[in-house]
Amino acid sequence: MVHVKCICCIGAGYVGGPTCSVIAQMCPEIAVTVVDVNEERIRAWNSDQLPIFEPGLQEVVEACQGVNLFFSSDIDKAVREADIIFISVNTPTKTFGLGKRRAADLKYIEACAQHIAEVATGYKVVVEKSTVPVRAAESIQRIFNANTKSNLSFQVLSNPEFLAEGTAIVDLKNPDRVLIGGGETVEGQRAVMTLSSIYEHWVPKSCIITTSTWSSELSKLAANAFLAQRISSINSISALCEVTGADVEEVAHAIGTDQRIGNRFLKASVGFGGSCFQKNVLNLVYLCETLNLPEVAQYWQQVIEINEYQHRMFASRIISCLFNTVTDKKIALLGFAFKKDTGDTRESSSIHISKYLMDEGAQLHIYDPKVKKEQIMQDLSHSSTSMDGPERVLSLVSIASDPYEACDNAHAIAICTEWDIFKELDYEKIYKAMLKPAFIFDGRRILDSLHDWLQQLGFQVETIGKISQRIPFTASAISKLDLQAPPLKKIKI
Ligand code: UDX
Ligand code: ADP
Repeated sequence: MVHVKCICCIGAGYVGGPTCSVIAQMCPEIAVTVVDVNEERIRAWNSDQLPIFEPGLQEVVEACQGVNLFFSSDIDKAVREADIIFISVNTPTKTFGLGKRRAADLKYIEACAQHIAEVATGYKVVVEKSTVPVRAAESIQRIFNANTKSNLSFQVLSNPEFLAEGTAIVDLKNPDRVLIGGGETVEGQRAVMTLSSIYEHWVPKSCIITTSTWSSELSKLAANAFLAQRISSINSISALCEVTGADVEEVAHAIGTDQRIGNRFLKASVGFGGSCFQKNVLNLVYLCETLNLPEVAQYWQQVIEINEYQHRMFASRIISCLFNTVTDKKIALLGFAFKKDTGDTRESSSIHISKYLMDEGAQLHIYDPKVKKEQIMQDLSHSSTSMDGPERVLSLVSIASDPYEACDNAHAIAICTEWDIFKELDYEKIYKAMLKPAFIFDGRRILDSLHDWLQQLGFQVETIGKISQRIPFTASAISKLDLQAPPLKKIKI
């Protein structure tokens, strides 16, 4: 086993930054350097304004920065000095060519591997942290083998990260498990033990699972696919509830008390977002297709289809309730991040819902406590999520500096992210400032305890997975509305 003195992490993003900050805090005798090609990002890590918002992260960084935690643009130096190199670069879904919209684009991983092979000397344990398709470690190893100099040797491990944004620091400090995949050779096992020794600083050995590299890579895809599947499952039930009069929260509670099912990840919503779920399920679909397993591919593809259906249905419900047109109507969209407690908007349901409403000519007034205006405008102008150019986005979208401004004179409020502050707003004040009838569309079920009161104030409350109490829908009414709802164009992913 190698005695580790220095760790380098390539990629100072949502995975690399928090992960290595916690490693630095837990391993005070090890120097941890996080590097990135994006100099602006590195400058932000070295400032008071961290480039990502994550509860508890600032405290960890402040405790270690300059002591044994460093953020740097000098990639070569950090690579040369490191015993262990984590690769935590982005692995976006391909937007062109073979595997378009399904396969992961490994160009950043490959660039990293080439770079490491060029500048490193001695023995290095290279750890793939980014979510990668199965057999990516093999590709990295082949790049190394093809470029190896006489004074250089590598072992490549898979060590997928399971942190969830918003709870990253808690997840990193108390992981359910740490997964390390490595080769079965003596050298491979030695590298596994070396990496395991880092986590053993704070994770019980019983929680550190070691597997083959490929099992580890597949486990990450499978874990995210299972979680996404649970959300699509409960969301499919929510559609049924909206037609039958059952309440999806009651159903989720009833089924979740069965210990075999469990009660977590059963929250019906506007659909899942985030950088991982969709990407990983699509990677899995692509993998199955390329391995000639079309039935398995179709099975997982349905998880995505239901998620897209959920976005469409939420937008359709808004349009239907607003008398089948939202053209020129002001809609306050509360929440743009893909979940609460993060400023990350990657694959956020808000983007898709906004796009549907913009296609119908709605005037969107968007408020999110942690997402910057430029990010929202960029997400909505991006060609793959909107048929409209930046000018049309500018004419339809305004960013509010607080929720009251967003709701002022609005026809409707659509809650798309479950930020706690949205539960505590002065809805009486908001109601008075809105046009009547005033609608609230609760896409996150965060106002359940306030429903009666909101209705007494005069709001028409429409909530995911439940029939509105004010205007009961019947199965026939729903199908009529569906027929009348304007056709919504499919989003290109
Ligand atoms: C996920 C995995 O949880 C994590 O293990 C992996 O490392 C990365 O991908 P993340 O995407 O950060 O983490 O957030 P997560 O809490 O899983 O939520 C993903 C999406 O599902 C969010 O949009 C969230 O709002 C939604 N969600 C989650 C639901 O709609 N209902 C639920 O019950 C749970
Ligand atoms: P994740 O959510 O997987 O952490 P992010 O996009 O937040 O993804 O972060 C990935 C980071 O990796 C980005 O800051 C990007 O600049 C960085 N990166 C990509 N390729 C390289 C590379 N070859 N060398 C160094 N950093 C890289």
